[in-house]
Amino acid sequence: MKHFLDINKTSVDDLRSMIDSAKAIKNARNGRPKGAQDDDLPLKDHMVALIFEKPSTRTRVSFDVGVRQMGGQTMVLSGSEMQLGHGETVADTAKVLSRYVDLIMIRTFEEATLLEMAENATVPVINGLTNRTHPCQIMADILTFEEKVGPIAGKKVVWSGDGNNVFASFAHAAGQFGFDLTFTGPQTLDPEQVFIDEARAKGVKVEIERDPVKAVQGADLVVTDTWVSMHDAPSARERRHNQLRPFQVNEELMSHANDDALFMHCLPAHRNEEATNAVMDGPNSVIFDEAENRLHAQKAIMKWCLQN
Ligand code: CP
Ligand code: NVA
Repeated sequence: MKHFLDINKTSVDDLRSMIDSAKAIKNARNGRPKGAQDDDLPLKDHMVALIFEKPSTRTRVSFDVGVRQMGGQTMVLSGSEMQLGHGETVADTAKVLSRYVDLIMIRTFEEATLLEMAENATVPVINGLTNRTHPCQIMADILTFEEKVGPIAGKKVVWSGDGNNVFASFAHAAGQFGFDLTFTGPQTLDPEQVFIDEARAKGVKVEIERDPVKAVQGADLVVTDTWVSMHDAPSARERRHNQLRPFQVNEELMSHANDDALFMHCLPAHRNEEATNAVMDGPNSVIFDEAENRLHAQKAIMKWCLQN
């Protein structure tokens, strides 16, 4: 079973083939209307379940559109409206859904839910974000970087802010795609050490630098994300804001990165908090390309999942 659970659980060759396939899928659409199907229809006669236990705009719409463009059909399910949200086990849900659908994408809280789904499903399962990782986002980000700049191998990526789930998938990607990664943020919001150790073990440079100005020097890409993620307690908001304010990505911070350094944010953003409007709407920002590339990258991921 070819699940897409995390970037570190997928081989380097498969990841590279997915990025190349995403580029080809994107190019092959050749400006046709968004509602028109592709020429290649790997999801023809396929039914896809998209399960959301958390809110979503990009993941929800891009998966839905992507499936339809590739000839398949979707059902979008909210966790709270399923029996899953009312005591049915994840394992039983996985077994039942596998009788109806050909592919499951799930956005959930605990990573254990994703893993239990994958263990018990007899169809491929895709991680649409957990509290710990967000691999589909980073596949879209790699695609975006390579479209704009070229190969990401050997480049320097700097994350400024919370050491969260999106950072974790960047750390997985650093090890697999061979780029250097610097984290700058308050110690209290450091990423889990395992993400850093694992990337370092694969031979890439992963650094923690408390001074954001020093961190972004030589950066080819500067990335941030919301200061309060969907799984964070709302009561932690003020404390997080106070701790993260020095790591805001603004024009002054960007001026210390390489002149042509890209700026990325997975969105949704809290404008003028983690990044200023001037940066988000500035010439180096590729935030909407990232959002678009979710569509193309996920089509490649789904195609890969269904290939024997
Ligand atoms: N970036 C991202 O996953 O956005 P959504 O929460 O809107 O899906
Ligand atoms: N870190 C954010 C990403 C949203 C796409 C969250 O988990 O809420």
